[in-house]
Amino acid sequence: MHIKGKISYSSPSNIALVKYWGKEPGDQIPMNPSLSMTLKECKSFTTVEYEVKTDTEPSIEVVFEGKRSIDIEAKLQRWFTKISYFFSWLNYATLKVESHNNFPHSAGIASSASGMSTMAMCLYGIDKHIKKHNENDINLLSNISRLGSGSASRSVLGPYALWGRFDGFENSTNDHAVVYPHVHETFLQLHDTIIVIDKKPKKISSRDGHSLMEGNPYRQARIFQSNKNLEILLQAFKEGNWEKFQHVTESEALSLHALMMSSEGGMLLLKGGTVEWIHYIRNKREERGIPMAFTMDAGANIHLLYPAASHEKVMGILEESPVPSIEFIQDRTGKGPEKMIDEYEEI
Ligand code: DP6
Repeated sequence: MHIKGKISYSSPSNIALVKYWGKEPGDQIPMNPSLSMTLKECKSFTTVEYEVKTDTEPSIEVVFEGKRSIDIEAKLQRWFTKISYFFSWLNYATLKVESHNNFPHSAGIASSASGMSTMAMCLYGIDKHIKKHNENDINLLSNISRLGSGSASRSVLGPYALWGRFDGFENSTNDHAVVYPHVHETFLQLHDTIIVIDKKPKKISSRDGHSLMEGNPYRQARIFQSNKNLEILLQAFKEGNWEKFQHVTESEALSLHALMMSSEGGMLLLKGGTVEWIHYIRNKREERGIPMAFTMDAGANIHLLYPAASHEKVMGILEESPVPSIEFIQDRTGKGPEKMIDEYEEI
């Protein structure tokens, strides 16, 4: 076999409403189920130039945001050893990868989710040409993405993706994410304004943070809490109930950080500004009665979620705030990856 081509995809990041934090023994098995909203604007763009020829040595070169990245090359190679079970041609593929994000680094936006999912889309696209099939096995795509980064399993789907076994939803599984379909129209088009408070890279990676949950004294309580929160969130989705939505979203954000703080070494990612913004948002919400819910990833920045119709009012509140921020990034509910280039020739 000898095939050459170029394929390119974009894939969005996502923001978890119920957080994935902690793993079970095994390969990327989550400790608890999580549910996220897929974003629309904050995306990774990945192009893979490939040549697959039987009996050649595999090689990979990655240019990330204009610079060669040996770290990403090593990360992808580790991932390839797991997924060559599905894509055996990776053992004789020459790959040249170019990838970049349209959002700033460390802005509280999960770049591993968008980055690994674009790469999974590209590999699956190549697989179609090699095996001459035209399937769109979204479960397989999500599964492959999960093996690269847990949260990436949710980015290939939208608008809401549920990953991890949950008793309240029969189709749920630890292997891959599924679209959660029973969502009231209130939540179908939300805005997400990201309040960037700190841009410095985190001192500890999510991967290391997950492993700290192994010895966390609240591990069992967290498993119980996340399942309970997911149950309430699904009720909120069914009823179009903003209060329940807000309750879960904020409880999850604060609990995620509380879990980090109670882990060995006391992982503290909140900044003073984060706490001031939270107080400000809560005060303004009470004063003006505008529905808005904050959440956070493993970082200091805040995602503020609210219905599209309140955009101007919310931006007014944010712009008049005395609490400083570096910038506001505007995003909203999205659907998932998009194909940009797909050309190939068989030799
Ligand atoms: C706080 O998916 O980045 O964003 O599976 O080790 O790659 P790995 O971790 P990652 O963890 C994301 C954690 C989170 C919460 C979430 O997105 O659910």
